[in-house]
Amino acid sequence: MPLKVNYGVDYNDDYNVYEDDNYHYDDLYEYENEKRDITHQTKAKQEVIRTGAWRCPICTYDNEDSMSECDICGALRNCLVRISQTGDSTAGGGRCKSSGASVMVKSLFASFRHRAPAKSVAFEAKNDAVLIEDAFIIRRNFQEFLRAFSSQKHQNINIAPFKFDSPSPDDLVSTRLHSSKLDSKANFKRLSSLDMSTREREKNILIESELGTEGPNSSSASVARDGGVKERDFASDCGIKPEILVSRMRSVSLSSKSRTGNVNEETGTSNLEYKPEAWMIPDQAEDRLSQLNLAIVGHVDSGKSTLSGRLLHLLGRISQKEMHRHEKEAKQQGKGSFAYAWALDESAEERERGITMTVAVAFFNSRKYHVVLLDSPGHRDFVPNMISGATQADAAILVVDASMGSFEAGLDPIGGQTREHALLIRSFGVDQIIVVVNKMDVVEYSQERFEMVKQKLGTFLRSCGFKDSSVLWVPASSMENQNLVATPDERLFSWFHGPCLLDAIDSLQLPARDYSKPLLMPICDIIKSQSQGQVSTCGKLVTGAIRTGSKVLIMPSREVATIRSLERDSQACKIARSGDNVTVNLQGIENNHVTAGGVLCHPDFPVRVSNHLELKILVLDIKIPILSGSQLELHIHHAKEAATVVKILSLLDPKTGKVTKKSPRCILAKQNAVVEVVLQGSVCVEEYAESRALGRVSLRSSGRTVALGLVTQIMKTQ
Ligand code: GTP
Ligand code: MG
Repeated sequence: MPLKVNYGVDYNDDYNVYEDDNYHYDDLYEYENEKRDITHQTKAKQEVIRTGAWRCPICTYDNEDSMSECDICGALRNCLVRISQTGDSTAGGGRCKSSGASVMVKSLFASFRHRAPAKSVAFEAKNDAVLIEDAFIIRRNFQEFLRAFSSQKHQNINIAPFKFDSPSPDDLVSTRLHSSKLDSKANFKRLSSLDMSTREREKNILIESELGTEGPNSSSASVARDGGVKERDFASDCGIKPEILVSRMRSVSLSSKSRTGNVNEETGTSNLEYKPEAWMIPDQAEDRLSQLNLAIVGHVDSGKSTLSGRLLHLLGRISQKEMHRHEKEAKQQGKGSFAYAWALDESAEERERGITMTVAVAFFNSRKYHVVLLDSPGHRDFVPNMISGATQADAAILVVDASMGSFEAGLDPIGGQTREHALLIRSFGVDQIIVVVNKMDVVEYSQERFEMVKQKLGTFLRSCGFKDSSVLWVPASSMENQNLVATPDERLFSWFHGPCLLDAIDSLQLPARDYSKPLLMPICDIIKSQSQGQVSTCGKLVTGAIRTGSKVLIMPSREVATIRSLERDSQACKIARSGDNVTVNLQGIENNHVTAGGVLCHPDFPVRVSNHLELKILVLDIKIPILSGSQLELHIHHAKEAATVVKILSLLDPKTGKVTKKSPRCILAKQNAVVEVVLQGSVCVEEYAESRALGRVSLRSSGRTVALGLVTQIMKTQ
């Protein structure tokens, strides 16, 4: 049953312009039939067998014999020995199996190297309640972390592990590691429910007095952040009658913590209309390169980190000395080919396993841009980290491995990350993409192979909503330095006369920046300081601007802090505006009031917080239908929460957006639907009509992205 489809058209109104009437569902899923014929190329990653080592039963890392504590997770060797001597090394209830620590634990630990003992924790076994009194879970010294990253000119982004209703062994370990985070999360839930009831009251008062018709559950109430009247642009897509929306002033907290002066105490509303100050609008004459956030994405092992390392080295961001050190260390571990990747893959585990696990951030200047490079992990286990990094992207480089079998593996509908990453970045609103067909040396710079990759991947990218004219194709070899920053040699140049990668980056267009709206900066990562009341947050400003001395509201904790200093690429700067990726050093705030996944806002214009959302979703190629009660994992900017589908409201026609069926029993692959979800914890969120960056979600299950969506309504917290 051939159906015309365009992934993008259904979840992003931008996508309308990319509509391709000649494209059929069958084309999109043709790869599924091919996958059985594909022989996956064996990964040439060498492992070095280490002697004189002891294996940590918590994280399974092989430590040197001389180490008294685990280099990865910091667990003390002696106490672990004692545990195994008591014969309790198997997992029970809250304990990890000695050899069974999952990738999530390893991912978590990987970002917590160089720890110092901090506090003791107790692991309770389900049956015999074994208490491990001496076990220390150790937190890193964040000051040291900051220094280390400043000197390296890049930083790693990691996000908190996902939590389900019944805690897994991973959760129990991570709970101990992130206890302060969880405390604040509990606080956050309390505050957010308070906030939502206030909001709902406020909304009802306004709706009743101004319209007198709308019920509290109307799915059309949506108001511009700046308080202006807006017509909901996607209401008709959802099959809902378009309505003129109520002009609503943004609510301001009524909690005793609120330090906002402009609050109407009766309604809890702010009567402010946002007007940007002069300094918030960039001066055209300002002599500064614009910042371009560039995500490097693609299937595992396609060469993303090697490409990033090479570029940084060629552009002088990695010194000869540093490169020499990476080469030497990589060779010593029997992984000489990873020398460039090691410039980005810093943790012991990333190096040992030869894969990227957390997003590495690095910077370089092209002729036109100050580029923020976000090197994503390609392994499917780390897609949540990839999502966190790539939500900041203005454009992306999709790296594909040209070698036989590897390219095909990337397009495999089951585990192909070329496919999943391309869909995800498109759903984050990225519409410009450079496809680097890497490892051309392996296929002897074959034009035929390049054209084949271009044809197959081109078809898929079109189906994701990428316009042909917004996709640039660059054949390259990171290993042999071909076509990265200069014209390649004869092997490529004999048939390819397009731009090299650096020129392709310069040909990208900067997306429109929104300076006219109040500040919104989703917090990607936090760096806690040892100094009382100081915390650093990293992220990209979605809207608005900040400068040293500005006050910011930290959501969801609702605390106000002052900006002590700002850093761009480890250099101090005075002002950061929409689109800038910065480190914001805050003062006057306790560590536990700032969480990754939170948002920095203008004090008078807080972001909304809820755990109950109405979503318009596009379901991907799933095998198990989505039902009412389905448990999924919801990702929104840098936050993720367990989500339960509580209602399937309607199925939509993928072309027209009209309702085709009300209250269906389930949603199948490739269908569009409107659903209601309830999250385990509240998240900072905006309706898509108000903020695209804070109104886009992706839904995952069993390690796969199952649907992409937009927030169409923020509902009362459950
Ligand atoms: P993940 O981050 O784990 O997804 O991997 P990645 O995409 O960052 O790949 P990485 O840079 O770690 O490289 C994987 C392997 O491919 C390494 O052995 C590299 O040396 C090799 N590689 C990367 N680029 C090239 C290339 O242009 N040619 C050849 N022959 N090998 C390459
Ligand atoms: Mg990598």
